[in-house]
Amino acid sequence: MTQSQINPQNGQPLLDIRGLHKRYDQLEVLKGVDLSMQRGNVVTLIGSSGSGKTTLLRCVNMLEEFQGGQILLDGESIGYDEVNGKRVRHGEKVIARHRAMTGMAFQQFNLFPHLTALQNVTLGLLKVKKLHKDEAVALAEKWLERVGLLERRDHYPGQLSGGQQQRVAIARAIAMNPSLMLFDEVTSALDPELVSEVLNVIKGLADDGMTMLLVTHEMRFAFEVSDKIVFMNQGASKSRATQGAVRASAIATTGGVSQKHTFLIL
Ligand SMILES: Nc1ncnc2c1ncn2[C@@H]1O[C@H](COP(=O)(O)OP(=O)(O)OP(=O)(O)O)[C@@H](O)[C@H]1O
Ligand SMILES: [Mg+2]
Repeated sequence: MTQSQINPQNGQPLLDIRGLHKRYDQLEVLKGVDLSMQRGNVVTLIGSSGSGKTTLLRCVNMLEEFQGGQILLDGESIGYDEVNGKRVRHGEKVIARHRAMTGMAFQQFNLFPHLTALQNVTLGLLKVKKLHKDEAVALAEKWLERVGLLERRDHYPGQLSGGQQQRVAIARAIAMNPSLMLFDEVTSALDPELVSEVLNVIKGLADDGMTMLLVTHEMRFAFEVSDKIVFMNQGASKSRATQGAVRASAIATTGGVSQKHTFLIL
């Protein structure tokens, strides 16, 4: 059972992003994004290539600096604090602690090729969480079983299919017991026949109450699994709409029809 499942709902959003601004030099990618999610929520980000979806996830995990706004995770300000009216970056220790509150899975699985599936999952448990070996192995086996790969525990990534490698990568992230899971197009690099096995794992985790922020192009899956779908288009402004309106807008804009720069939250 994960932390996100055992913590009681206390009304405070698990993730609360307010007015997030992010620039790469002259390019303003996020122009005041607001997004909040409760524990147990599944939120999916959709939007065209370059609209800032990955950037938003990376800001939550402090893999990117951001220039304005606030990200509150479980009530804690990620990345920066206000001290005497000045914005001050947290020290590396605090950032590392905050980073550990989220788990991330990417399009590229980034498994260590010289380690078995089990060793890939236990690595962080041993080195970061400092668990005893027996404990780490038990936890890794539990999560490998959860993603349907216990019998492959001693296989190296090169001996696993893409879908299996991605499931190991998901097990590795979740074994660290994050409060929030970030998934960035985790099925995009997979052969079509392997996509559903990964989506099924994510759906199972959602059903178990894990809090997740997803980026995916699998629209049917997104509508099936999400409590909220956020449509990003240049991150310029935001408005709230009914689910039907957002669907219509998402479809229209995905088809290149809409010229509006909107950030819609349903
Ligand atoms: N490290 C970087 N340096 C400069 N510009 C960047 C950097 N990373 C991303 N960008 C730019 O920021 C914008 C948003 O990129 P981002 O990767 O967040 O988009 P995305 O919505 O995830 O797109 P995709 O659907 O293609 O993954 C793009 O214009 C991109 O070129
Ligand atoms: Mg991206």
